[in-house]
Amino acid sequence: MPRLTDITWDEFSAMGLEEKTPYLSRGDDGMTPYHTLFAQQFDRPLLERLCELANRIRFINKSREGAMYLKSVLAHKRAMLYFSQPSSRTFLSHLAACQILGLTTGSVRDAATSSEFKGESNEDSVRTFSSYFDMIIMRSPRQGLAEKMAWELSNSSRPVPILNAGSGKDQHPTQALLDIYTLVRSFETKGGLDGRTVVFCGDLLRGRTVRSLSYLLTRFDGVRQIFVAPRELQVPDDVTAVLDAKGVEYSLSGNLKAAVKEADAVYMTRIQDEWDGTKGESAAIDTTHFKFGAEELALLKSDGVIMHPLPRRDEIALCCDHDPRAMYWRQMRNGMWIRAALIAAVFGCERTIMECGYR
Ligand code: CP
Repeated sequence: MPRLTDITWDEFSAMGLEEKTPYLSRGDDGMTPYHTLFAQQFDRPLLERLCELANRIRFINKSREGAMYLKSVLAHKRAMLYFSQPSSRTFLSHLAACQILGLTTGSVRDAATSSEFKGESNEDSVRTFSSYFDMIIMRSPRQGLAEKMAWELSNSSRPVPILNAGSGKDQHPTQALLDIYTLVRSFETKGGLDGRTVVFCGDLLRGRTVRSLSYLLTRFDGVRQIFVAPRELQVPDDVTAVLDAKGVEYSLSGNLKAAVKEADAVYMTRIQDEWDGTKGESAAIDTTHFKFGAEELALLKSDGVIMHPLPRRDEIALCCDHDPRAMYWRQMRNGMWIRAALIAAVFGCERTIMECGYR
């Protein structure tokens, strides 16, 4: 199995994402991640295993004895949460996932409270965290930083796994995992996710969750993707190039109502105006027709689902919140279970948990 120690940074960074995957794995099966950097690391069998493991953790955690058992699994490990971009869900669900498995945690959520305030580089910060912790869960506005640090740490005297909790406008692999887990759970008694139609709507240009989820959906058979957005915020070419290469059926649209009629799942996203330049370009874009409200709800199939990575602004009207098809609250909680499953897998505890005596 190839390792990051076998390759220079220049060689590694020049590779395609699928080609990089074996270098990032734990080495036992060539897929289970050691470093978790992008969606391309997850194939269908791995996704199914992680969903099963998340179900198992969710079940075991229901009893006091089970919860105490889970807390013993990684009680000897420490995780650092290094979030230099704002976050509620991703930070807290990773924190809760660590707590479920017994990891103790540290955190930096604001450079002003770390030595970055004194001019330390992000790279040196991560090297510093690796001295004290056994895993680094990191969110950064810098695309590629998580990948660079995965290579750096693997080539250091203190290699610890990196888990990408959102990198620039690029990828958000654990969000895509929780989205897949939510879709799998939503359709598990209704014939499964294969052959479904997923509609993405909103700011598809700058939404890193869209890029990661669109890729993971290609791991399922015959999942059609419809991208609904204002022209200025339509899905970027690199996403559609992947779909073209994989022969996935997709279309681009400006008509949400028409797309909702065909949808099994509607994935709404917020306008990502934090990426605007100084002129606030997003404000000039007409987004009126890219919001999900009572009229869209009336058009959605009776067993369809509405999803959103959150936070939302006004993309989903409050009147949808109590509809049984609104999945965004459960989606958020699913993030805790699937992240616990991923962390357990990274540390090689998958079989221990799957085979433990709690039934
Ligand atoms: N979905 C998501 O990444 O939410 P947060 O920004 O709150 O972590």
